[in-house]
Amino acid sequence: MHVTDLRVEHRNVGDTLGIGAARPRLSWRTDTDASNWNQAAYAITAIDAATDEVVWSSGEVSSANSYLVAWGGPALASRTRIRWQVRVLGSDELDATSEWSEFELGLLDDTDWVANWIVADAIEPADPTQPVASLRREFAAPDDIVDARLHVSALGVYEVEINGTRVGDHVLAPGWTTYDHRVRVETHDVTDLVQAGTNAIGVTLADGWFGERFGVGPAEPERLYGDEGAVIAQLELVDAAGRRHTVSTDETWRSARSAVISSGIYAGETYDARAERPGWSQPGHDERDWNGVHRLDRGTETLIARVGPAIRRTEEIAPVAITTSSSGRTIVDFGQNLTGWIRLRVDGAEGTTITLRHAEILQDGELWTENLGRATATDRLTLRGDGPIEWEPRFTFHGFRYAEIDGWPGEVCTDDVRAIVVHSDLHRTGWFSCSHDQINQLHANVVWGMRGNFLDVPTDCPQRAERLGWTGDINVFAPTASFLFDVDGFLASWLVDLAADQRDDGFVPHVVPDIGVNPLPCAVWGDAAVVVPWVMYERFGDLDVLAQQYPSMRAWVEYLIDLAGPRRHWSRGFQYGDWVDPASPPEKPWAARTDPHLVSQAAFCHSLDLVARTAELLGHTDDVARFRGIAVEAREVFAREYVTPNGRLASDAQTAYALAICWDLLADDAQRANAGRRLAFLVFSEGFCIGTGFVGTPIVCDALCATGNADVAYALLEQTESPSWLAPLALGATTIWERWDSLRPDGTPNPGSMNSFNHYALGAIADWLHRTVAGLAPGAPGYRTLDVTVRPGGSITSASAEHDTPYGRAAVRWTLDAGHLDVEVVVPPNTTATVRLVDEAPVEVGSGTHHWAIPAP
Ligand code: BGC
Repeated sequence: MHVTDLRVEHRNVGDTLGIGAARPRLSWRTDTDASNWNQAAYAITAIDAATDEVVWSSGEVSSANSYLVAWGGPALASRTRIRWQVRVLGSDELDATSEWSEFELGLLDDTDWVANWIVADAIEPADPTQPVASLRREFAAPDDIVDARLHVSALGVYEVEINGTRVGDHVLAPGWTTYDHRVRVETHDVTDLVQAGTNAIGVTLADGWFGERFGVGPAEPERLYGDEGAVIAQLELVDAAGRRHTVSTDETWRSARSAVISSGIYAGETYDARAERPGWSQPGHDERDWNGVHRLDRGTETLIARVGPAIRRTEEIAPVAITTSSSGRTIVDFGQNLTGWIRLRVDGAEGTTITLRHAEILQDGELWTENLGRATATDRLTLRGDGPIEWEPRFTFHGFRYAEIDGWPGEVCTDDVRAIVVHSDLHRTGWFSCSHDQINQLHANVVWGMRGNFLDVPTDCPQRAERLGWTGDINVFAPTASFLFDVDGFLASWLVDLAADQRDDGFVPHVVPDIGVNPLPCAVWGDAAVVVPWVMYERFGDLDVLAQQYPSMRAWVEYLIDLAGPRRHWSRGFQYGDWVDPASPPEKPWAARTDPHLVSQAAFCHSLDLVARTAELLGHTDDVARFRGIAVEAREVFAREYVTPNGRLASDAQTAYALAICWDLLADDAQRANAGRRLAFLVFSEGFCIGTGFVGTPIVCDALCATGNADVAYALLEQTESPSWLAPLALGATTIWERWDSLRPDGTPNPGSMNSFNHYALGAIADWLHRTVAGLAPGAPGYRTLDVTVRPGGSITSASAEHDTPYGRAAVRWTLDAGHLDVEVVVPPNTTATVRLVDEAPVEVGSGTHHWAIPAP
């Protein structure tokens, strides 16, 4: 038995600097082959690494909890370094103690900051060409530095160098938050970069999200956050005597324009190697033509530690083809739609400019960029002519599979170009496969869609001039995301932004961070405030996220209660409805078959229900009664307005039935069975083609299975005619599309102005693949109990799902073979499983690996 994976807050193993909580929560896992193993107790010992004094000894606590365990010691001060270990006592009375692990707090209070925000005088405020600044200063360090920490952030995106060496491997830091409320700080250990005597520190600062012009309307938008990008950095050097020497951003810094001539998230990046200032981040650089800096009038109270993972390069992809189009252009195909940028290795004469344009699809062999809107997504590199260089942009990103390369000296070879995949460096936790190759490809596309759109903010798409944190999209995709990757910290952080941007009256913006797209309340989109925290609780057992979000969840439903009025009917006003129903016309994605007010009333009931359940968990008794009572009334309204006595719905459409069935809006079993039958009939009469948009897609198969129509759900899943999940595969899809027919069967793009080939929302079906096709679902919050249901369907003869639960790896694998159904279930230590095999009675099992072989159904 080993106690492993010691983590602090939401940080991955090894990512332990700059923790932002004075009472940091701790997690661990126990690896053991013992069956039926449960944690009976734990004992945590935490030592101050500087003094070797015990700061907290929990004593033996009888508890099975090992995820985000509350800190019981005294509140920790900024910069404290803690060494901790945990001893675990098992239900078998054996115990094991982990290795020691360390973490270190960041700067918790604004008074810890002596640094000021500084702005480069070398850059004109609001210069629309999006120039990039270099900022530098030199400093002296004593001979006996034992520790050095850099705390750094920016309004913009930045990279830091010390003595010519890049600090850390994060890109696009500090990411995108509601900058008026929260700006993330990164803490780096730079002990090895600082030398005795003279040193230099340099920061490159680009616009990033801070300086971007966001807006979905036709007019050229204004900058949202202000005209002056700024940097704040505090370098703390600790000498052998324990004295702290601080070097921070102030008026002594100098600024110049960077050799990165311009950079914008949407526009792309331009770099001129001839403008490089060799040695600019090293001591002794000639600063004569550098400008000054000035202080930004802004405090440090919005600075917070990073909660989720940083953004990193996560993979390099070689081209699968380099071709010349009929117009003579060089087109590179990376074989995969992805988010990131291209790295080049190139040699050529001074002044040669190479231009890279990016696109998701080709038309007639040429790059097709009409779906990018204002995003020109173009990178340019000008050579200095002194030998080969390796280059990649640093402050932008693109969504693409193809690139057009212009101006390349000679011929582009495969080895000269790589696509660099970039996203939040989330820990992968979920896998699925089955005997059906196309379904495996669908699943791979869902994973890629997630990788492309979890770049600091859960976005709709990564390519066009949008790339926004659309609330409706993550509302429907959160369950899938929570299975595939550990998104607890990523989304817990984003939810704080949601609450920060929520209006005082409870209105939830359609995108977070809010760019002011639309002030009208919208069901499903606004309901993300309630559903996403609930999913975090369901999938990770994270009750703290519910406590953190409760005021926001409650404010949203109170707002809806007002909106619905005494009739308890949310029946008016603007709605996105069942967005991109396949029957909706290209320019009217809201014009779905399901009445948008049926959707809004259903969502109202669903959110009331989830907030009442949350109130119950958190002990807000008055709220439980209030929200339950109103939920009953709202359900009565739903029944009266939208359901016939026999279970027909006012909108005779797949989504309407799926909502009524899955959100428990029907009166009794008879109504439910009839609704299920009607849903099955509709799917059948539509030739087993999909008839749902964002709202119905994640649940339509659940609704069919829950009403005894699993065969119809599988027929829908396996359909290859358009519209369906599998139809895009024949057209070469490597991600999930925004529309069921983003490419039409004849290979031409949907003519709608909004048409992304990398949108995760319709991939929300993957949650059903995991839970139903493979059979692995959470039975209790955080998978303390697994709900394993194996009931083979369709033409699928084997399936498996694996998931790293907070307690360890869970797996379900089944195969239909020669008249037998063979099932293997792996139950992690400290959890149990309820296993249902076809029509057999459920059995409860404890941790360990279990096998069954029963006659095939
Ligand atoms: C986005 C969607 C989003 C929608 C709102 C679109 O422009 O790309 O994914 O949810 O607007 O209806």
